[in-house]
This record gives sequence, structure tokens and C-alpha cells, in this order.
Amino acid sequence: MENSIKTGQWQDEFEALIQGLMDRGFGYADDFLDEATTAGLRRILLKNKKEGKMLPAGFGRKLDFQQNTLVRGDMIKWIENDSGNKHERRLLDKIEGLVHYLNQTCYAGINDYEFHYARYEKNTFYKRHLDQFKSNKGRKYSLVIYLNEDWKPINGGRLSIFLPDNSVELISPIAGRAVFFKSDEIEHEVGPSLNRCRLSIAGWLKSM
Ligand code: OGA
Ligand code: MN
Repeated sequence: MENSIKTGQWQDEFEALIQGLMDRGFGYADDFLDEATTAGLRRILLKNKKEGKMLPAGFGRKLDFQQNTLVRGDMIKWIENDSGNKHERRLLDKIEGLVHYLNQTCYAGINDYEFHYARYEKNTFYKRHLDQFKSNKGRKYSLVIYLNEDWKPINGGRLSIFLPDNSVELISPIAGRAVFFKSDEIEHEVGPSLNRCRLSIAGWLKSM
């Protein structure tokens, strides 16, 4: 993973994510993905849905696994880390660039990652939670990337980020935007999406 990774072209965006995380608990970058890649990933997500490959997400893992739409209503499909698809490759190359940059500049010790497509049908949500499991502390950083064209405030579906000083930040899931925070520290919640479905890619940088 460490071979032939160029981070220079992305340094400003990576710095925005990392600096935001250090200064206020979360970072975000608009245009983390270019329009063609965002559109390509959106098409793949919609195709996965059509082909029945998006499955209801659970929470917890293995024996703890439960499905409860009162907690979480999204449908997901995991992305293969060795995907050869050009849009997924572009996404994963950038994620690997971020991992490399974090390891170099913050000694983060990240050695794995996992990402999935997520689709929230209208009126579904994900209640306030932390991303790190009690039974498995591998998830260190959370990264969410949005795929929704022309998302309006009236469409709801905002991400609430609950900060340690009790303030709450609200983030709209607009196409190309990425949000970054620590998986074991930052509680967050996905508000119900109204009138339309909400498309994203969510994932974790891990150290095992
Ligand atoms: C998650 C999550 C946030 C979002 O999938 O764990 O919190 O804005 N997603 O989609
Ligand atoms: Mn989460």
C-alpha cells in the first residue's frame, strides 16, 4: 500500500481534514472527489441497489450483530479494497494517499481501511452513535464522502456532529464533500432524509 503513493497534489485537502480534526474535532473538505468520480460512484451505488446487492446495515459485529431500523436504516455494500473499477480506484487511491499522509505526518499507524456505499431511503436515519466498537478498537478515523447532487436543506439528512464542548455542527451531505473525525471520540447522527434518498460512502481507517 505504501508503494508509489503521491500525496503532494492532495496535500491541501488532507491538511484541511487533519487540521480541522485537531482544531475542533472534525475536518471537512468540499470537492474531495471530482464531479466525474462522484457521478461514477453514484452510478455504481444505484446499480448495486438495482441488482439487490445493497443489504440492510446492522450495528455491532459478529455475535453483537443486530438489525434495528429504529437505530439505523441504511442499506450498504462494502467496496473491495483491490477494486479495479476506475471510479472506485480513484477513491481508494485518494484514501490510500490520506493514510500515507497521516502515517507520515501524525505517526497514526494506520494499516488497513474499509469503506462501504450507503443508501438511506427517505425517512430513514442513523441515531447518535460512536463508530468504534467496544469489542474491537480497530477503527481509528471515520471518513464519510457524499454523493448527492443538488441536495437542499429541505431534504434533511444532515450529519450532526456532537463536539466535546456540547456544541453541535450540522453538515449537509452534498456531492464531493468529505467529513473526517476520530472514530472513538466523536458522537454523530444522521438525520432523516426527506423527500429523496441519501447516498454516501462511509468508511474507517484502521490500525490492527
Ligand atoms: C456511519 C455514519 C454518517 C453520514 O455510517 O457510521 O455515521 O453522514 N455515517 O452518512
Ligand atoms: Mn457513524
